[in-house]
Amino acid sequence: MQTHLRGRDMITTQEWTKDELDTIFDVAFDLKRKRALGISHATLRDKVLSMLFFFTSTRTRNSFEAGMAQLGGHAQFVDSTTTQISHGDTAKEIGEILGRYNDGIAIRQCDWGVGNQYIRDVAAASRVPVLNMQCDHFHPFQILADMMTIMEKKGDPRGLTINVSYAYAKSYQKPMSVPISLILLMTRFGMNVRLTHPPEFNLLPQYVEQAKENARKSRGSFELVDDFDAGFKGADIVYPKAWGCMLTTESHEESAKISEQYTDWITDERRMALAKEDAIYMHCLPADRNIEVTDGVIDGPNSVVYDEAENRLHVQKAVMALTM
Ligand code: CP
Repeated sequence: MQTHLRGRDMITTQEWTKDELDTIFDVAFDLKRKRALGISHATLRDKVLSMLFFFTSTRTRNSFEAGMAQLGGHAQFVDSTTTQISHGDTAKEIGEILGRYNDGIAIRQCDWGVGNQYIRDVAAASRVPVLNMQCDHFHPFQILADMMTIMEKKGDPRGLTINVSYAYAKSYQKPMSVPISLILLMTRFGMNVRLTHPPEFNLLPQYVEQAKENARKSRGSFELVDDFDAGFKGADIVYPKAWGCMLTTESHEESAKISEQYTDWITDERRMALAKEDAIYMHCLPADRNIEVTDGVIDGPNSVVYDEAENRLHVQKAVMALTM
């Protein structure tokens, strides 16, 4: 267990050692147990987290806000459109100034080609930890919650096969931050990681290379698959979700046309039967019901989506308690 994490940013799990990540899970399980038992755990009394959102949220906002309250502190919600950002406040002003008022700054900025750099620029100017609530490259707290859920449902993750797969959705060109973060974290824990997608839906290649190297070091494996059904075969964990083809086109019209070729990439009962009998179905939510996944699967016995959503609260509280 590591005890020197005060002041650390969480922008991607790749910048944390395996020991440090294990510490997060240890604390998250402890805080989950304390909450279940009604044991007070106000370790952040008098501390304030500023939460700056450039994009909508259900889970992230609510779980960070509830988490800060349960830790004895306060979280202030800031909608970027209500600030002076559009009138000249740069990332430097946000880091310098919000860092002086608060004990942590959490940011969601998912704009393609903008978000990750923006969060890093705020972090460079901030004297307090910066927490990435999702950018164009990473969604670290989602994936920490996913790993916690895998540990709860399956025990030791080493040797388990996870299928991180594209699925069709038509709501919008979703960020690729979830699949990137999944392949980066799951390969740190000795899992067999299968990345399944059509050719137009490549992930940023530098992270695919990092995932391969992580798998080599952890004695797991990493494979690329381009057939939707093949991705499910024999998997212990299936995580099919939509993302955008931003490396192929940044045009929304063209991306919608490309996606239309893959309307049959929907997770249904037949596909689930290709995975192991006790395979779990995971999704970060929101999902396009009956387009991306059938009601039968997402509401079925293999689905763990609500435990996954709950675990956002516990891992976020762990990281805030350790860093702020
Ligand atoms: N999974 C997730 O980040 O949900 P929200 O977009 O609702 O925060």
